[in-house]
Amino acid sequence: MRIIVADNYKELSRWSAQFVAGLIRGKPNCVLGLPTGSTPIGIYSELVQLYEQGLDLRYTETFNLDEYVGLPPSHPQSYHSFMQEHLFRHIDHPSSHYHIPDGMAADLEGECQRYEEMILAAGGIDLMVLGLGPNGHIGFNEPDSHLGTKTHVVSLTRETIQANARFFREEKEVPRKAITMGVGSIMQAQEILLVVSGTGKREMLRQALFGEVTTRIPASILQLHPHIVVVTDFSLEPLG
Ligand code: F6R
Repeated sequence: MRIIVADNYKELSRWSAQFVAGLIRGKPNCVLGLPTGSTPIGIYSELVQLYEQGLDLRYTETFNLDEYVGLPPSHPQSYHSFMQEHLFRHIDHPSSHYHIPDGMAADLEGECQRYEEMILAAGGIDLMVLGLGPNGHIGFNEPDSHLGTKTHVVSLTRETIQANARFFREEKEVPRKAITMGVGSIMQAQEILLVVSGTGKREMLRQALFGEVTTRIPASILQLHPHIVVVTDFSLEPLG
């Protein structure tokens, strides 16, 4: 495991974007797994700048980790809208090359299976970029006694609903379910880039990286991945 401690959020974003760009330059048709949320906004903005300076993203295929169930792509809080706003509308990237689960599918189980098959057909994920939930979730794999391995439908925990309420007018508008890649889909990536910003997540990150591997902290499973890079904007030393 490689741990990079950046001086601040800007540096964390710049370093992470350069890391992603390095892969794209070496393998233009690489397959990326991408997160939404607050953490990657700076990375996407840096990637857009790199694109403006000549980074060619036309051949890169992207798979988002998750999407809410019940929000149409046009909903401002859907992850489809998020990706358009922060990345896709700024770059030359054919829409056939980006994939986000369809949370409006009539057959959600079928949609999960279709998504897994598409990842396989693309040759699997080269680099999975992840954020860390305050409760240790990755994607929407919530702490539980067991974890789904493949792409599946999950019920969001109260903690995640509360944490994500900041993006909605009211907490009750936050969808209760989502489609997420499973921990198996995530762990099958060739390489993982876990990006964590803000000292509020320090203890959770410490437990995930150095504590027991447990389904109660889904991110702890990442300890078992052979190629993981962690980027933070805070020191991992314990407080006090
Ligand atoms: C989003 C996702 C989530 C977030 C996590 C952290 O696609 O998969 O696991 O990465 O909830 O979110 P932020 O960055 O908003 O703290």
